[in-house]
Amino acid sequence: MTTSSAPGKVYLFGEHAVVYGEPAVPCAIQRRARVTVEERDDDRLQVQANDLTLDGFTVTWGGETNDRPDVDVPAPLVEAAMGYIDGAIEQALDAVDVEECGFDITVESDIPLGAGLGSSAAVVVAGIDAAVRELGGELDAQAVAERAYEVEYEVQSGEASRADTFCSAVGGAVRVRGDDCRRLDDVPTLPFVVGYDGGTGDTGELVAGVRELREEYDFAADTVESIGDIVRKGEAALQRGDIEEVGRLMDFNHGLLSALGVSARSLDTMVWAAREADALGAKLTGAGGGGCIVALDRTEQTHTALEYTPGCETAFRAALDTDGVRVEE
Ligand code: MEV
Repeated sequence: MTTSSAPGKVYLFGEHAVVYGEPAVPCAIQRRARVTVEERDDDRLQVQANDLTLDGFTVTWGGETNDRPDVDVPAPLVEAAMGYIDGAIEQALDAVDVEECGFDITVESDIPLGAGLGSSAAVVVAGIDAAVRELGGELDAQAVAERAYEVEYEVQSGEASRADTFCSAVGGAVRVRGDDCRRLDDVPTLPFVVGYDGGTGDTGELVAGVRELREEYDFAADTVESIGDIVRKGEAALQRGDIEEVGRLMDFNHGLLSALGVSARSLDTMVWAAREADALGAKLTGAGGGGCIVALDRTEQTHTALEYTPGCETAFRAALDTDGVRVEE
């Protein structure tokens, strides 16, 4: 039996603009998905999933009978879970050159599902790592990231960027620009607080909305470029340890994302609550439309303020996690 874990992430800077070739800086956070795998003596997969936002379910599939699951959670969720797990196991078998093998798999995650915190990427990254190790192999974090990206790309029909999978596999703060991904060195401690409105935005629709705006209005194209400038300045501020400037740039980044129409009342309310509670900076994270904000909190006040903010379902501390995927003893 082998357990591996991998972190979720927030976007410190650059979501949406990254779609148009600008850089982005996602950061791994101390919220993890843990995947335990144990080889079976048939070729079926049995998955038991216990996510923060689900009551939990167990499905078994594959093998000769290939029966479909009969579970009491929304079918698309189960289908997505099966797609990610199937993909992770396929990648693991390929990595160690094994043709067929079944597993009992347990997924436990404290990353809210579908909230833009990279929960599916964390499950895929941890799943590949655990299955490879269970079969006696080992991959470095970059190789896990590459294979996890293949899985996300397949399941999300070509819509995935490398940000989530790379960040989850290598940990820390990373810089992503197209296919070029690297970890940023010497990044200071980043005391993140996440506020979650309990909802989720439709990433495909939000990305399409920005594309239309950018085609029709020069201001939107300029805004995307300005986000790129903020990312470059933010990266420099991070590397000289100037977290006050990082916070200021997060505020600018949120304003520009609002101009592109991807914020929401709940997100704006949480961002303002964080700022009024003396956060160094606050912005939405991910596609927007609903989901999460991230604030840089130098006191306890932001966390407490968010917990009492109307529209905030839950708030939690989630500092930068310098560990990427790792095996759990
Ligand atoms: C979604 O989490 C982030 C976006 O930039 C889309 C993407 O990069 O694939 C909006």
